[in-house]
Amino acid sequence: MSARAEAATAEPARDCPYCPRLVAFRRANRESEPAWFNAPVPSFGPREARLLVVGLAPGLKGANRTGRPFTGDYAGDLLYATLSEFGFARGTYGARRDDGLALIDARITNAVRCVPPENKPTPEEIRTCNGFLAAILTEMPNHAAIVALGRVAHDSVVITLNLKRSRAPFAHGAEHRVSERVVLFDSYHCSRYNTNTGVLTPEMFRAVFARVRAQLERTA
Ligand code: URA
Repeated sequence: MSARAEAATAEPARDCPYCPRLVAFRRANRESEPAWFNAPVPSFGPREARLLVVGLAPGLKGANRTGRPFTGDYAGDLLYATLSEFGFARGTYGARRDDGLALIDARITNAVRCVPPENKPTPEEIRTCNGFLAAILTEMPNHAAIVALGRVAHDSVVITLNLKRSRAPFAHGAEHRVSERVVLFDSYHCSRYNTNTGVLTPEMFRAVFARVRAQLERTA
């Protein structure tokens, strides 16, 4: 069964059945950690936002536990700090869903909504979940900037927007104008691995969001 073809809504059901491996992992996590969220993690932020940030997938003990993208994941520390710095978030990020943090003109979603074993969704799972990403963009009438965190997020956006891969190759810092109004910005994923190894520094990450802010100001 393919969610790509069938996703009529932007948020999968709590018991979304499409990916057998992810369903089995979810069941096992519900048994071992009944207090965790353990369901497709819904997007966070207002539909009217002009910016959409696309991550990879919930982390087991982060977003899958808390129920909000990047929340409780190591990657969330840098992401939420950077969003706040550029005026896309208000409040204090407390690594929990009820910390009162609000996104301003920004929304966050993941290319794959369910936590995958070993943090690695399969190509089939990425493709299957793509229908939900397409639905997210459809329900965001003002979107003008998309930040893809990593290659999987980038490729998912490229599929969603029906772009030719050769026309929009992934590269950190790349900008792809995908329509008169919309620009796709690429960044390395703000994962612990990438930041610990220096693949992505906080300055490199900030530079991406500075350009996003500048683009939104130009088109305001
Ligand atoms: N947490 C998320 O929600 N998404 C990611 O891509 C990484 C961590």
